[in-house]
Amino acid sequence: MTTTSTSSLQADLIDLHPPAADMQRLVEQGLNSQPKQLPAWFLYDAEGSRLFDQICEQPEYQLTRTEIALLEQEAEAMATTLGPGVIVEFGAGSARKVGPLLKALTPDAYVALDISTDHLRHATQALQEQHPKVPMLGICCDHSQLDALPAHPLLEGQRRLGFFPGSSLGNFSRQDAITLLKRFRTLLAGGPLLLGLDHPKPAPVLEAAYDDAAGVSAAFAGNLLQRLKRELNADFNPAQFRYRARWQPDQSRVEMALVSCCDQDVQIADQRWNFQTGEPLVTEYSLKYSPAMAQELAATAGWRWVQRWHDPDDTLSLHLLVPAD
Ligand SMILES: C[S@@+](CC[C@H](N)C(=O)[O-])C[C@H]1O[C@@H](n2cnc3c(N)ncnc32)[C@H](O)[C@@H]1O
Repeated sequence: MTTTSTSSLQADLIDLHPPAADMQRLVEQGLNSQPKQLPAWFLYDAEGSRLFDQICEQPEYQLTRTEIALLEQEAEAMATTLGPGVIVEFGAGSARKVGPLLKALTPDAYVALDISTDHLRHATQALQEQHPKVPMLGICCDHSQLDALPAHPLLEGQRRLGFFPGSSLGNFSRQDAITLLKRFRTLLAGGPLLLGLDHPKPAPVLEAAYDDAAGVSAAFAGNLLQRLKRELNADFNPAQFRYRARWQPDQSRVEMALVSCCDQDVQIADQRWNFQTGEPLVTEYSLKYSPAMAQELAATAGWRWVQRWHDPDDTLSLHLLVPAD
């Protein structure tokens, strides 16, 4: 663990990024599964986070613009409903969405968690300069590490308000989403959770959103292979994979994959893996939740659904959840 010390305008940072050995173990696990699949967080090194920000600017990817507009419009009502405390944002990315809540709520502190270390450092630092009176902390970790966070004054003895926008919960299988929502519940210790979830939509809309004409989504997925080359000494030839995003209505999800263009062997660390022609390497899923599905999921994970805010076309929701007991 490394920490960066605080001065008046310096956001604190705790770096708990999983080491390369853990990544290697997860690669082995993922490539032994059927279909081959890697954890979605592998997409987010510094370059991946930069590309994700570019995806958010693409005309086909409406989610970010729509959710920010909703937050700007409803921040006062959300702040009143959430009440006072420390905002804890999960998977904060560039932390571009919390601004309206910081203004409306003036929280005791802001804590941003994300797996992408340098991106998180820059995001919290930029936000700290915009909101000098709100003490800020970044914690670089995988969501699976939430049960074992080190003590920090900003997380001690204060009411916690969870914020998880961007429909990032959709990257998890239903079972993993339930586990994660339970983890949030434990960490938030009685506090509420504001959860952003995208709704199911027609296949052409969703497939375009995750495979934009400018090719940024494809580059984002392709960067995963570059990352494995850089960090785990893999010998992928990215030109021998093509990107695919397809809506799977029976699972209410978009599947994103790199599909092998030929029969090929790839070396990663000290192991070889075979990819047959047409075989996918799933880079991430994006599950879409109707309001009814979201309520059912929340209840299964021990949360009570209170209300939702949505955009004029009702394409996504920000759900307010409180612990069920
Ligand atoms: C879809 S982006 C959303 C970013 C931002 N919240 C938004 O709404 O635009 C997902 C974010 O979660 C982070 N992330 C993905 N998987 C994670 C994990 N397992 N643990 C922690 N952070 C994760 C990524 O680095 C990325 O910043």
